[in-house]
Amino acid sequence: MNCRDLLLRLAAGQDLTESDFRFLLDSRTPEDARFAQDLAVRVRKEIYGGAVFVRGLIEISNICKNNCRYCGIRRGNGSAARYRLTPEEILACAEEGYALGFRTFVLQGGEDPFFTDAVLCDIIKRIKERHPDCAVTLSLGERSRESYAALRQAGADRYLLRHETADPAHYGKLHPPEMRFENRMRCLRDLRALGYQVGAGFMVGSPFQTNAELAKDLAFIREFRPDMCGIGPFIPHKDTPFAGCPAGTLEDTLFLLSLIRLIHPPVLLPATTALGTVHPRGRELGILAGANVVMPNLSPVSVRKKYELYNNKICTGEESAECKGCLEARMRSIGYEIVTDRGDVRR
Ligand code: SAM
Ligand code: FES
Repeated sequence: MNCRDLLLRLAAGQDLTESDFRFLLDSRTPEDARFAQDLAVRVRKEIYGGAVFVRGLIEISNICKNNCRYCGIRRGNGSAARYRLTPEEILACAEEGYALGFRTFVLQGGEDPFFTDAVLCDIIKRIKERHPDCAVTLSLGERSRESYAALRQAGADRYLLRHETADPAHYGKLHPPEMRFENRMRCLRDLRALGYQVGAGFMVGSPFQTNAELAKDLAFIREFRPDMCGIGPFIPHKDTPFAGCPAGTLEDTLFLLSLIRLIHPPVLLPATTALGTVHPRGRELGILAGANVVMPNLSPVSVRKKYELYNNKICTGEESAECKGCLEARMRSIGYEIVTDRGDVRR
């Protein structure tokens, strides 16, 4: 067995086992990683050409009832300056984004009890009424099946909920005991059953993670086949229990992006802000490793710094138009074009 043979088998559409994934993660050389990137780009171009989809990210609240041990906006962080956008402010962000050419809005936030089903349904309906040609994506954490159903009914198209890790014991080390791996999985199954395009994903280099856990994540992607998959390096935040832990690396994240593209070719795969935080050209390198989505920030500049999941987050000072212009130039520099399109998954 060698890495190239395994990568070629993946590119030919064959499934690999969890132990094959483990072998790839343990033994790949920088040349193997480049080989994987070339295959991933070829596979992605067959489906999506040279298009890069954009999603306008609106960070609606950093108030969260959860206490995930890695996250800077966890309930236990008494130093975080909290904020919540009003429905009017959220609509104004979408308005501005529409004028800039965005056709997908991602409403992301902590698990803030203010955002009841009634409040969210009203916001979703108003965005869809004004912009029926746009997709609304939610990333608001764990909710009941009834709640997901109501939001879907109101017009939400997609839901991002990273599984965080496919290993229950590892999940237990990243989260407080009241957060359950089984509930995370229940949420993902419910979202799919309700007709959402569903996003899973995980951090690369999170505390206690080894290649054994990452191989499980890849096997999970192979089985669940999410429509989107958000992965980015773990980056420590100084006011969390993981303050002293090292960040995940650019190289590992890029290799995983290539593998995910090969495992599940149609997946919508973002080159994340976290990747752009660990390396100045992280997002460009992400696209060159197989990603096909970028998510410029549409949140009001006044709150940007407060949505601090990890330290040194980029894009906190730029207006929405600057952020989009910056990413457009970055994509052009590597021969890609950002497109004005909802950017649905192509099966
Ligand atoms: N509350 C929603 C949820 O749980 O899905 C959405 C917001 S949550 C902050 C979004 C994602 O940020 C998480 O799924 C996690 O993977 C990522 N994240 C949190 N803390 C991070 C850190 N320190 N480094 C990198 N990514 C982090
Ligand atoms: Fe936001 Fe560059 S993408 S400033």
